[in-house]
Amino acid sequence: IDELLADGVSGKRVFVRADLNVPLADGTITDDGRIRAVLPTVKALADAGAKVVVASHLGRPKGAPDPAFSLLPAAERLGELLGAPVAFAQDTVGPAAHDAVDGLQPGQVAVIENLRFNPGETSKDDTERGEFADRLAALADVYVGDGFGAVHRGHASVYDLPARLPHYAGYLIATEVGVLKKLTEDVKRPYVVALGGAKVSDKLAVIDQLLGKADRLLIGGGMAYTFLKAKGYEVGISLLQEDQVPVVTEYMERAEKQGVELLLPVDVVVSRTFPDLKTKAPTENTVVDADKIPADQEGLDIGPKTRELYASKLADAETVFWNGPMGVFEHPDYAEGTKAVAQALVDTNGFTVVGGGDSAAAVRTLGFDENAFGHISTGGGASLEYLEGKTLPGLAALED
Ligand code: 3PG
Repeated sequence: IDELLADGVSGKRVFVRADLNVPLADGTITDDGRIRAVLPTVKALADAGAKVVVASHLGRPKGAPDPAFSLLPAAERLGELLGAPVAFAQDTVGPAAHDAVDGLQPGQVAVIENLRFNPGETSKDDTERGEFADRLAALADVYVGDGFGAVHRGHASVYDLPARLPHYAGYLIATEVGVLKKLTEDVKRPYVVALGGAKVSDKLAVIDQLLGKADRLLIGGGMAYTFLKAKGYEVGISLLQEDQVPVVTEYMERAEKQGVELLLPVDVVVSRTFPDLKTKAPTENTVVDADKIPADQEGLDIGPKTRELYASKLADAETVFWNGPMGVFEHPDYAEGTKAVAQALVDTNGFTVVGGGDSAAAVRTLGFDENAFGHISTGGGASLEYLEGKTLPGLAALED
């Protein structure tokens, strides 16, 4: 983007593909981290006199307009953060979008409606995606990719559109890639990775890669129960992906052979019922050893012994990557495990990276100071796929 700014963008229409896919509760943004993350790029372009057209997806609407997934709240928040009015177009490539863009003066910003309201955005059909990319290209003279959270998607606005316009990487993408490179090239050791979240299937590929790279892997969250099952424990009614048990067993064997410390919870907080995340009503729960989960209960957080163990394993880390909460952190009864890992990252002197929408949101909603972490990535799937060593369509399209 510095190159673009140096060439001059005054009066040019610059399409910024951001990732404004923020969590919403009843239409209110609960974490605006992703909007703040794209501000440097939007501001720099506006200050340089560009006519800035910001676009993003939000959620997973079914290729048609759906008010529940409107980008309007994100556009309003962007305006507040910029301290300047932001025009909002109620369609993506239709007359409203053209009117909004045509109405921009140099230095002004418009946001167009959710890209996924059009089936062409996510289509697997190259022609359909290409047609949508053509219509998006008609809105701009230049493309800036800055939606790091979406670079692992081969979608029209991420992958096809840059090929149709002069294209540049924004500041956020440059920062994110710079940080993730540190984790893949010449990483400082001990390199400790904490992985949580609900589904082990989402993390298998990254675990596969990390077994050859990390010194320690700390497992928590819903995915831990598939590991505990693979270890031969009964997990009651905890989240379990039975079909993944053989893969996980193989990973555990490989970890041992390769001298990678793979740590599982030694105790967990269990309950008969899943907590109410809306009312956050107090729940009945107990702490049990990981091999004594009652048949009618489910594990919802790592227990106190595990928190201490994981904190001790993070204490001397030179590099840490953390993706995925350790428990149902949205409810106070099950937030302690996630808090303990976040605190351990704050306490270590090593370079810490928090990756993933949920863990990033957890850090902020649990009241941690974001500046206490080395880097909080805006990309969940994107940062994992980067670490998996995959080619990310949105980055490949910009390098091209
Ligand atoms: C994310 O939240 O990880 C990104 O915004 C991508 O969203 P998606 O998983 O719906 O493509």
